[in-house]
Amino acid sequence: AAAQPLAGRRVVVSAGGTREPLDPVRFLGNRSSGKQGYALATVAARRGADVTLVAANTALTAPEGVTVVRVQTALELQLAVEKAAADADVVVMAAAVADFRPKAYAASKIKKTHDVTAPDEAPTIELVRNPDILAELVAARGDEASPVIVGFAAETGDETGSVLDHGRTKLARKGCDLLVVNEVGETKTFGQDENTVHILRQGSSHVVDAGPASKEDVAAAVWDAVQQIL
Ligand code: C5P
Repeated sequence: AAAQPLAGRRVVVSAGGTREPLDPVRFLGNRSSGKQGYALATVAARRGADVTLVAANTALTAPEGVTVVRVQTALELQLAVEKAAADADVVVMAAAVADFRPKAYAASKIKKTHDVTAPDEAPTIELVRNPDILAELVAARGDEASPVIVGFAAETGDETGSVLDHGRTKLARKGCDLLVVNEVGETKTFGQDENTVHILRQGSSHVVDAGPASKEDVAAAVWDAVQQIL
């Protein structure tokens, strides 16, 4: 039916932001609220899809009819997404995944020294790379057309190029089918209820602009683009 264009489709959406623990009370995190990912899951469920939402550290209520898997770290998110992606038609990576994690986890709280001869002493946190989950999903798909893989790119324009320039470069590098590019900054996008995005498609110069609009309206535009590929 026209109202259920995703009926019979299995989709996976990752949402929120990963947290990489330093010790039992501290983590490296980011400003992602998860709202755009939840909106994507909500709209997909409304369109008839069987939705698994892999949620990293979100404070949002699970959308009705959606299976939610809660994770914290990038490595946990990768495991959950890969498991759900095994029989999925679409994977949308809307989560903000930490590119780095602390090399070591301190089992007890890291303390400051009380040595009066070294009052400025501070620890150095060594980081290691996290896997690029999106790129690994694309690599694992190989020559198959399924699942359709959608990436997000939070970009800021700078002297080396515009937000769209950076998006095109990223789409080519990541190899996913669609890249949803949004402009971010201190007050833009993160935690907000509205979003403005540009949807880029692999192998096409056509750009779909969505917003400023509610994150559900942006999600609808993303699923419209996915449905054209399915
Ligand atoms: O390279 P960048 O982090 O800007 O790419 C963003 C896209 O890649 C998002 O779809 C995000 O979910 C995904 N990503 C990932 N694994 C990472 C970093 C980002 O899957 N380690």
